Amino acid sequence: MSAHSVNAEKTTKTEVVRPVVRFLQGPNLLGQAPYVAGNTLVEHAEDADVKIPTNCTSGTCGTCMVTLLYGEVPLPEILPPGLDDYLVEQCARLACIGMPNGDVDIDIRPPL
Ligand code: FES
Repeated sequence: MSAHSVNAEKTTKTEVVRPVVRFLQGPNLLGQAPYVAGNTLVEHAEDADVKIPTNCTSGTCGTCMVTLLYGEVPLPEILPPGLDDYLVEQCARLACIGMPNGDVDIDIRPPL
């Protein structure tokens, strides 16, 4: 078998698994959307037909607070006014400014 045919075999067997942003409410899956780099959780929720309430859309008011169940939604170095250390410990994220890093599961309920 030539090197070329080995590579072709690998290519045909490789499944393309795209990252997904999933939105849950407790155990219920409300919707999911393909991960789009640079989009916020609110934008992903819109793609998934899931409504996350917003107000300021700038990380100040906390209206859009959700709970990160799985995956990464990096925090800014300086926490925005809508978050504090305790909320972060409870896995809180602000959906209006939070941008996922690949696969994430989000409970649309705030952690408290
Ligand atoms: S809408 Fe105000 S913090 Fe997100």
